[in-house]
This record gives sequence, C-alpha cells and structure tokens, in this order.
Amino acid sequence: MLDLNTIVSLAKRRGFVFPGAEIYGGLAGTWDFGPLGAELAHNIKDLWWKHFVRAHEENYGLASSVLMPEAAWKVSGHVESFTDPLIECKKCKRRFRADELGKLHPPASGCPECGGALGEARPFQMMFKTNIGAVDSEENTVYLRPEIAQGMFVNFKNVLDSMHPTLPFGIAQIGKAFRNEIAPRDFLFRVREFDLMEFEYFIREEEWEEQFDRWRKEIWAWIEKLGIDKNLVHELEVPEGERAHYSERTIDFEFDFPFGKKELYGIAYRGDYDLKRHMEFSGIDLRYTDPVSGEKFLPHVIEPTFGLGRTILALLCSAYREDEMNGEKRAYLAFKPAVAPIKVAVFPLVSNKENIISKARKIYLELKTNNYQLSTIAWDDIGNIGKRYRRQDEIGTPWCVTVDYQTLEDGTATVRDRDTGKQERIKNTELDKYFLEKLS
Ligand code: GAP
Repeated sequence: MLDLNTIVSLAKRRGFVFPGAEIYGGLAGTWDFGPLGAELAHNIKDLWWKHFVRAHEENYGLASSVLMPEAAWKVSGHVESFTDPLIECKKCKRRFRADELGKLHPPASGCPECGGALGEARPFQMMFKTNIGAVDSEENTVYLRPEIAQGMFVNFKNVLDSMHPTLPFGIAQIGKAFRNEIAPRDFLFRVREFDLMEFEYFIREEEWEEQFDRWRKEIWAWIEKLGIDKNLVHELEVPEGERAHYSERTIDFEFDFPFGKKELYGIAYRGDYDLKRHMEFSGIDLRYTDPVSGEKFLPHVIEPTFGLGRTILALLCSAYREDEMNGEKRAYLAFKPAVAPIKVAVFPLVSNKENIISKARKIYLELKTNNYQLSTIAWDDIGNIGKRYRRQDEIGTPWCVTVDYQTLEDGTATVRDRDTGKQERIKNTELDKYFLEKLS
C-alpha cells in the first residue's frame, strides 16, 4: 500500500510541490508548485483544454475574474448554503468538520485532541470575503470565487451575443477557486486555494440524461488519456441529501488515494437553477432563442468538474512504481510522455572530454530550441550515468539520450526507455522525429 508520505517527500525533494510560504512556517491549506510541478500542471491544463474545449466545435473558452460581487453569490445560493458543519471544542477551541468527526470519532466521546466537551455543530461559511476600493462598506463586499462555474453563468449572455452559439454548447474555463476549508488535509487533496478545470454544457431539458451519459463517458476517456490507472477510479452516485444545493443528479469519480477512496472529479446536472436565479435577480433576460422556431427558454446545464491539484495527486499516486533494475532498487514515475514534466534528458557519457560534452550540448540545444513540444529537455552531467538515469526515472522522464564515443564516429546516440531500461541507437539528426512520433 502506497504511503502518502512517500509521495509528499518525493514531490518536495524533486521540485514538484512545496508548502506555501514555507520560510514563514507555511500557510495551512496552501501549496506551491515548484519547477517540475508547474510543468506538470501546465501539461495537464493544456491537455484538458484540447480534450474538452478545442476538440469540440461547440465549446467556447472563458477566463473570468476571481472577484465577484456579493449579489452574485447570494443569487447562486453560496452565501446561504456554501457552508460546512463546524464543531468546536469548548476546552482547547480546536475546530473540526462535523461530518469527518462523526466518521472518525463519535462526538459523544469528546474532543479527539484533548478529550474536552464538544459544542453543537453550526454552519461555517467557506467563502473568503473581502472589500474592493477604499471604502469598507456592504456594497463593496466581494468574495473570492469558491467555484468557477458562476463566471460561466454570469457571462452566458455575453457569449450568446458575441459568438451566437446554437444549443447544445459549452462554456469552459480553468482557474483558481478559494475555499476556507475548516480542516485542510491530505496534501493537495483538501486545500484552501486550488485550480479548477470545468465547463457548463448548455442543453435542452429533454436531452439531459443523454448528455449526462455522454460527458460521463468523456470523463473516462480523459482519465485514460491522462494515464491515471482506471482500476483506481470508481463512480459513486451521490444520493439526494448529499448533493450540492444546485444539483439534481451528481456522480463523483472517486480515486483510491493512500488515505482512502475520495472524490477526484464530478459531473452534475444543475437543471436551470443558476440561469433562472441570475435572470430573476439581475433582471436581465438570459433566455436562449431557438433560431428556427423563435421559442425563448432557459437552457439546462450538465457540469463536468475537475480539480487540478487532485489530478496531480492522483497522477503521482497512480504513476509511482518501485522495482529493481540492473540489481539496484529504484523508484520511478511511469507518467505518459504527454504529461511528463521533462520529456528528454541529455547526458554526455563522461564529463571530462570536451569533444563529447560539446557534441552533447549541441544535441541538447537543438532538441530544446527546435521543437515546442520537446522544449522541456533537461541537461545532466553530474555523477555517473546510472545515477543520472535514477534521477530522471524518479521524476518520470520517459527518455534519456547519452552521447558517447561512438556518437563522434557514426553520429548516433543511445536512447534509453524509462520503463524497460532498454537502449537503442538513434541518428542524432533523427532524434527530433523519433521523440515527436512517440509523443503523438
Ligand atoms: N462547480 C462545481 C464545483 O465546484 P465541487 O465538487 O465543489 O464542484 C469541484 O468541486 C472539484 O474541485 C472537485 O471534484 C475536486 O476535484 C476539487 N476540489 C473541491 N474542493 C477542493 C479542495 N478543498 N481542495 C482541492 N480540490 C478541491
């Protein structure tokens, strides 16, 4: 069984994820992506955008603001309902999420930290509230968005008027969301600031079941494309009473994390809840006009949603392997090349022969500058080749190129495959093509 600490320590040691503001003791519920984490996140966002936005001619991108006025969040129901049940210990004042406390530790037996008596559960508002402008007044109250969906709903009419889409169509975005979680925990799983990748797919009411099923299948296709082990993902039909306030049907895609089976992604049928509320309270007509019949109505919505941090955590857990190669134990990340933060590492066989080093540098720089898709190329000339392979394996680099004496004679270099350790000689002039073919 994979231990979460193995992943947390690899992620920190190798520059994937650092605790937020670590030199000031860390800010609970925040994590920063390091150089490799930033590349990994970029690759995932890029793949997601291609898979769910650009591949569908009826889907449109958006990038809306993080700050939105209080009115929007009242209308969406978040001011009233975006709460978690909070229980406070009367003695040590520690705070717990009532639902988790119930599962792990019955409240009747007192505070899990000090044994003190626990108070009654009360709703805790999870949105971060702030003010805009110089005056601290109620009209200036804004919230950092707790979900990115409302940006899509408040821009629905703008997209209709500017792009003239016909139903069904989607509006998608990737961006930050903020939630003042009572108990952030489990590394990237529950944090206070995270990226979401999400779209609202606008449909006619009568097709909701068909469209729900279509996008549910597309989520599985995405999981496969990303290279998350499908055997570790399970669908959960969320029962009524446990669904978000806007949802008429929700399926969670749960992943077997080291700390248990927990939500990775979700798909919800939001009906016309959001557009109806925004139309009612803004006074703006948000109805869609059928181009043939002229009928005006509010579309319904299917919403697939994907947390980026949870995707990264699931990918790290799913790709982590330990084995033995050439009589040595090794740990490696079996990332698909498309998501790997570094695609190729280039080494000179020895670090004291000028002609080998300059040939290797030339190959490295050509690979790095020639082709955008291969631009994450690493150079390593420290330690022996075996150590360099291990270092690249541990961060999931699919291929290592070694420039040796034979390269100087016949213009070929070895390409070594991360998973099998197998090596083959490829002509220097064909390396670009070789990797691009493997990546496609
Ligand atoms: N618009 C719908 C919505 O926001 P959600 O289930 O509340 O739905 C969407 O959140 C996704 O965001 C989840 O499936 C999960 O991947 C991610 N997520 C939610 N809360 C999170 C948190 N505190 N930390 C990290 N990721 C979170």
